[in-house]
Amino acid sequence: MRQFFLSALLLVVPVAAIPAIDLSDFDDDVMRAMDDAYKDLEPVLGASNADAARVDLAVLKEGYQWTHEYFTGKKAEAPDALEIVIAGRKLLGEIQSALDARDFTLGVTKARELHANCKSCHDTYKPKKQ
Ligand code: HEC
Repeated sequence: MRQFFLSALLLVVPVAAIPAIDLSDFDDDVMRAMDDAYKDLEPVLGASNADAARVDLAVLKEGYQWTHEYFTGKKAEAPDALEIVIAGRKLLGEIQSALDARDFTLGVTKARELHANCKSCHDTYKPKKQ
């Protein structure tokens, strides 16, 4: 029985093929700014530097807002992207709360979860470099 469920699961996977979406109007600068901010965020949280973390968080919030609007316009082609953005914005709120409470350990944990959020969107929607 268990074997049956496992093979049924394997059969389902190929159906989730990579959707080809038109990214010609995508703003890579937003992503690059988020990348810099993300890379800075974890170390500054680790160093309990709330001021620097706030600056990074502001860049990330703005980037996620842009990404949210962008993928709202692509809801039909990329429905999961929207769910991922919404989950990412929730995480940003949680990092903000951790920062306000000066709980830097929680902040670092949430920042790592945010990285997984970036990655989950990229895995599906970012074209692979040829
Ligand atoms: C909901 C989707 C989504 C989320 C969330 C997301 N990205 Fe992206 N990102 C993309 C897509 C789509 C591309 C590819 C754009 C293209 O090829 O034009 C991209 C490209 C990039 C690039 C490459 C830009 C370049 O120069 O070509 C970087 C760097 C990047 N993202 C960083 C991040 C970081 C850091 C986060 C999280 C803090 C993040 N992204 C979250 C969708 C997302």
